[in-house]
Amino acid sequence: MAGATVGGVRSPSAEQPITEERSGIRAPVAATPSALWEWDLPPDIAPPRVPDDNPMSAEKVELGRHLFYDTRLSGNETQSCASCHRQELAFTDGLARAVGSTGEVHPRGSMSLVNIAYSSTLTWGDPELRLLEEQQRGPLFGTEPVEMGMGGREEELLARLRASEVYPEMFVAAFPDDSDPITVERLLDAIAAFERTLISFDSPYDRYTFWGERSAMSREALAGAELFLSERMGCVHCHGEPFFTNSIDYEGKEVVLEEFFNTGLYDVDGEGGYPPPNTGVHAFTGDPEDMGRFRAPSLRNVAVTGPYMHDGSIETLDAVLAEHYMPGGRTGNPRRSHLMVRFGLTSRERAMVVSFLDALTDSTFLNDPRFSDPWEGRSER
Ligand code: HEC
Ligand code: HEC
Repeated sequence: MAGATVGGVRSPSAEQPITEERSGIRAPVAATPSALWEWDLPPDIAPPRVPDDNPMSAEKVELGRHLFYDTRLSGNETQSCASCHRQELAFTDGLARAVGSTGEVHPRGSMSLVNIAYSSTLTWGDPELRLLEEQQRGPLFGTEPVEMGMGGREEELLARLRASEVYPEMFVAAFPDDSDPITVERLLDAIAAFERTLISFDSPYDRYTFWGERSAMSREALAGAELFLSERMGCVHCHGEPFFTNSIDYEGKEVVLEEFFNTGLYDVDGEGGYPPPNTGVHAFTGDPEDMGRFRAPSLRNVAVTGPYMHDGSIETLDAVLAEHYMPGGRTGNPRRSHLMVRFGLTSRERAMVVSFLDALTDSTFLNDPRFSDPWEGRSER
C-alpha cells in the first residue's frame, strides 16, 4: 500500500517523503566546515553544525576518542569521560545520579551523548551552554561538584599527556599547524570532534522510516507509534520526530529551538517549586518563571538509559507513562507546561508504547567499534 501511514511513521514510499515540512530537516548546505566530513546519515537528514575554528578530521576524532576513554584526565586517574558515559548504555551510566572520581554524588544523572552534535543547548537546564568544546570544562575542571577533579591542575594534566607514548604524535597529526599542540584548548577540540561523530540513525524505527524496511518494526511497536504520535498523548510537542527532542540545530536550520519545560515532576511548596539545586533553567537565571524547566532529552535509545529524568527518580518506562505522564505530570505543579495533558492508557496500551520506545534502540550504534575504548588490549599508553 504505497503512501500508507502508520500513526505518522511513514514509509519512504509515502507520497509525502520525509521533507522539511514533516521533520524540520532540509538537505545539506555546501561549503561549510560540516560539508568536509562524511556523516553517516539517512537521506534528508542535514549534517550537524561544526564550529569554523574546529573542523573535523579523522586524526582529530581518533585523538578525541583516546582522550574520552583515558583515566589520566581525572585527578586521581580513576575516571574518564567514559566512566559516566558508557557506549553500551548509549553513553549514560545506569545510575540515578552520577558519581565523580572522588566519590562526590552529582545532583543530576549522566546524559546520553547520542546525536549530541545536533543539540541546540547542552546539559539538563543550562540555557547558555551550546558548544561541546566548552561543556567539557564542567566535568574536567568543575568543583561543584567535583567530577574528574582537574580544576587548578591543568599543567599536571598536560604533563601527563606529554609523557605519554602515543599522544605527542597524535596531537601533531590532529593539529599539524600548531607549534605546541598539547594544550587544554586542543584537548577540548579533539574530544568535541569525537563527540560529534556519535551519530545514531539505525534503530528499527529508522530502518522502517528511512529505508523502507517494513519488517523492522513489530505490529506491537507500530501500534505504540500510533499512540506515541497521537494528540491524545501529546509527546511529540516536546519529543518530535526524527530526533525525539525539539531542541536541535543543524546546518542550514533557520529557527533554532532552545526549549525547556516544567513537566510537573516536583512541587515542593504548592507554588511549583523544585528541590534545589535541581531547579532547571531557574538555577541559571533566578527567574521564577524558569522554575523546573528542563530540556526534553532525546528518546533515542531510551530503553537503555534508565533510570529516568534529571535525577533518575523514575525507574522504568512503564512508570514514566503511568506515574508521570498519564496524570499530566506527577504533581499538580501550577507552573507546569500547558503541553502536559492528562490521558488514559490501559496496561496493554502502555506495553505498546514501551515497545515503540524499544524500537528507538540502535544496537549498531551501541556496538559500533568506532566509538569503543581504543585502549583495550593495547600496551602502549
Ligand atoms: C562523574 C560523571 C561524569 C563524567 C566523568 C563526565 N560526565 Fe558528562 N555528564 C554527566 C552529568 C551528570 C551530566 C548532566 C550535567 C548537568 O545537567 O548538569 C553530563 C552531561 C554531559 C553532556 C551534555 C549532554 C546533553 O545531552 O546535553 C556532555 C556533552 C557530556 N556530559 C560530555 C562529557 C565529556 C566529554 C566528559 C569528559 C571530559 C564527561 N562528560 C565526563 C556526568 C559525567
Ligand atoms: C511539555 C514537554 C513534554 C511533553 C509533552 C513530554 N515530555 Fe517527556 N520530557 C520532557 C522533559 C522536559 C523531560 C526531562 C524532565 C526532567 O528531568 O525534569 C522529559 C523526560 C522524558 C523521559 C525521560 C528521558 C530520560 O532520559 O531520562 C521520557 C522517557 C519521556 N520524557 C517520555 C515522554 C513521553 C512518552 C511523552 C508523552 C506521553 C512525553 N515524554 C511528553 C518534556 C516533555
